[in-house]
Amino acid sequence: MRRIATPVTTLLDIDLPIVQAGMSWASSCSALPLAVSNAGGLGVVAAGPMRLPDLRRTLDEMADGTESPWAVNMPLYRAGAEEVIDLLIERRPPVLIASQGGPRRYLDRFHDVGTTCLHVVAGTEHAKKAVDAGVDGLVVVGAEAGGHPPPGLVTTLILTRAVATAVPDTPIVASGGLADGAGLAAMLALGAGAAQFGTRFLASAEATVHPDYKAAVVAAGIESTRTVGRDLGLIRALANDFTDRMTELENSAADLERRRDAFTASSLRDAALDGDLKNGKVEAGQSAGLVTDVLPAADIVRRIAEEYEAAVARLRP
Ligand SMILES: Cc1cc2nc3c(=O)[nH]c(=O)nc-3n(C[C@H](O)[C@H](O)[C@H](O)COP(=O)(O)O)c2cc1C
Repeated sequence: MRRIATPVTTLLDIDLPIVQAGMSWASSCSALPLAVSNAGGLGVVAAGPMRLPDLRRTLDEMADGTESPWAVNMPLYRAGAEEVIDLLIERRPPVLIASQGGPRRYLDRFHDVGTTCLHVVAGTEHAKKAVDAGVDGLVVVGAEAGGHPPPGLVTTLILTRAVATAVPDTPIVASGGLADGAGLAAMLALGAGAAQFGTRFLASAEATVHPDYKAAVVAAGIESTRTVGRDLGLIRALANDFTDRMTELENSAADLERRRDAFTASSLRDAALDGDLKNGKVEAGQSAGLVTDVLPAADIVRRIAEEYEAAVARLRP
């Protein structure tokens, strides 16, 4: 596979500007990130829901399983964040992708052990602050994204361009709504240096979610998702009984307590591990409508790179 050089591939020392998104449960393991990193992209372990012993074992499997760079995604709000940070400092992952919190708290310690630090941002002011704090690059997540879209629901198309214009010298990974090589080409045209793919890799052989979850992603159309959880940490998920309940409560202006009870009664874990597609949080992006098959992750990486080359060739006269 031909190398595709961009500011992000140069920063991270990877062959292809293809990042597998950190996804709680789905990539809280080594199989998926190893397959992606060994295929030339950047595989990302989602540390968010992992217990320390599981995370320790997974970090060791990553270090043993590839010579290529890989990353850990770490939501800074998670319970026990300090212990997780201590473990990561000890294990020195090549790349950290931190979300939901300020970067100053961790940057120096990770830079001291040689970890490249990317920070997830949801707007231009947020991006400028992270760059001022000294992050090495940004992950920009737009409204189409599965999991946690930005509260203002600005699209990836607009947000990527706005952030690339606001911090032109910072390597940017665009995320949200991207499922193929045409999406990657579009993001590079907007000024990003790589694209991050979440929902596309949910439908991979290695993603550790229930087979029914993968089948639901493949069956979904581009209008199959809903955003629910206003004021509670908005999520985008496939429409089901849970999103119907939340939408009804939100439309009837139910008070925050009632909405919180309904929101916390369901979980991503229920959907991902137990296959509860009716009442669980089946988090997925609008890009589910562009995903039509479950494939080995390495094939997904290869196919995105080929589609990228084809998309760029189409643009040249
Ligand atoms: C099932 C699922 C779980 C996710 N978990 C996390 C997470 O733990 N941490 C995080 O920063 N983002 C998380 N995300 C967001 C992804 O990292 C990424 O931004 C998003 O999937 C991009 O949109 P896409 O799904 O259209 O590719 C999750 C997304 C999904 C679909």
